[in-house]
Amino acid sequence: MDVFEAVRTILAVRSYADRDIPLDVVDRIIESAHLSASSMNRQPWHFVVVQDRDTLRELGTAVTTGPYISGAALAVAVAVERESRFGMSDASRAIQNMMLTAWSEGVGSNWAGFGGLDDAASLLGIPDSYEVVAVIPFGYPDRPLGVGRKNRKPLGEVVSRERFGRPFGG
Ligand SMILES: Cc1cc2nc3c(=O)[nH]c(=O)nc-3n(C[C@H](O)[C@H](O)[C@H](O)COP(=O)(O)O)c2cc1C
Repeated sequence: MDVFEAVRTILAVRSYADRDIPLDVVDRIIESAHLSASSMNRQPWHFVVVQDRDTLRELGTAVTTGPYISGAALAVAVAVERESRFGMSDASRAIQNMMLTAWSEGVGSNWAGFGGLDDAASLLGIPDSYEVVAVIPFGYPDRPLGVGRKNRKPLGEVVSRERFGRPFGG
């Protein structure tokens, strides 16, 4: 799948088949986080990779906006150094890279939580000097998806050409 096709078709997947993700695919997902760019190349992050079914179930409780993590085959908790000014943007790039890499292999995922994930942090033994930005569950979708069926504002509403408000198209 080329990059634009992955961007065009990826959807939030919140329900997963009971099927393991092959090791080489897991490794590529994690490597895509590791390789991500960050401000001044500081890499102020730590990724906790969870495949243990009991821990996944507990994460589904700890992350209140992501109960479906309990049914995932894999989850990655993305933590950033609290002191880092760019932590959130750096983490966002790593998250998007992981999600697109997974999608290109047929593996669905979603972004769950947005900071304040202290229960997830203590469950995973993440030190206080880090904040858990999000937990990303991964798994093969358990049902056919409306691939590429995105609900977005019209392009003309959010894109201008040269100056704000000047139509991009036409
Ligand atoms: C920063 C951010 C935080 C999000 N947090 C959650 C969340 O806590 N729980 C959840 O189920 N989805 C979460 N999402 C997923 C969005 O709701 C989803 O991507 C959006 O509704 C668009 O749907 P689509 O990705 O299927 O096009 C989050 C997405 C982003 C980018």
